[in-house]
Amino acid sequence: MYDGGKIVAGLVVFLVLVTVPVWLNALAGGTPRAPELELPRDESRCVEPAAVMRATHMELLDTWRDSVVRSDDRFFTLEDGRRVERSLSRTCLGCHDRKDAFCDRCHDYLAVSPYCWDCHVIPEGGTALAAAGGGVR
Ligand code: HEC
Ligand code: HEC
Ligand code: HEC
Repeated sequence: MYDGGKIVAGLVVFLVLVTVPVWLNALAGGTPRAPELELPRDESRCVEPAAVMRATHMELLDTWRDSVVRSDDRFFTLEDGRRVERSLSRTCLGCHDRKDAFCDRCHDYLAVSPYCWDCHVIPEGGTALAAAGGGVR
């Protein structure tokens, strides 16, 4: 009861099925492209080098929150002398004033959805670094 024809046909079907993602991807135009991010126009430096920010901004924000909420320690000075307020809305979004074309574009692409904006305000347009203000703004 050895039916070579059926076995070969079965193998062909199997191979076609397991390689579906590969050839679908090839038909769709090859490798996926990274999202296009809109960087601030008037600033050239982040609070850390871009590669560090890309990899660790989530942890940085956690340390900022802890310093503010636990120690009321709101400001610090970068090595290059810039004074920075540890603020999500005023500092990060002060420079990255198009959240939709920066933070969201990357997060949507990666299916990450930070819950911060349940409380923190998304400012309209940027404000200067270390600007004054109150609440979770
Ligand atoms: C003084 C303005 C400024 C502030 C404040 C700022 N950024 Fe940036 N950020 C920039 C600029 C300019 C770049 C691009 C730097 C480069 O390409 O070398 C950047 C790059 C980044 C990147 C990497 C983007 C990429 O190329 O993949 C991330 C992520 C980021 N910032 C997140 C944040 C977060 C989160 C905060 C707040 C903790 C913040 N930034 C605060 C100006 C700022
Ligand atoms: C270059 C892509 C990129 C950009 C730009 C970017 N993020 Fe992210 N962000 C990520 C990735 C990837 C994660 C998820 C990391 C993980 O799950 O370990 C993340 C996670 C986070 C988290 C933690 C979310 C959670 O639920 O744990 C916060 C908060 C956050 N990002 C804030 C920001 C803010 C604010 C900006 C804009 C100023 C920004 N990010 C811009 C890629 C990016
Ligand atoms: C349930 C409401 C709530 C949520 C959700 C929330 N926060 Fe906050 N956060 C607060 C409050 C309240 C403060 C204290 C505000 C102050 O004293 O200025 C604060 C302070 C902060 C601070 C320092 C002060 C400032 O102006 O930014 C950072 C940084 C911060 N949170 C980051 C985050 C991040 C990142 C997320 C999402 C991963 C997040 N928070 C989610 C309520 C919230």
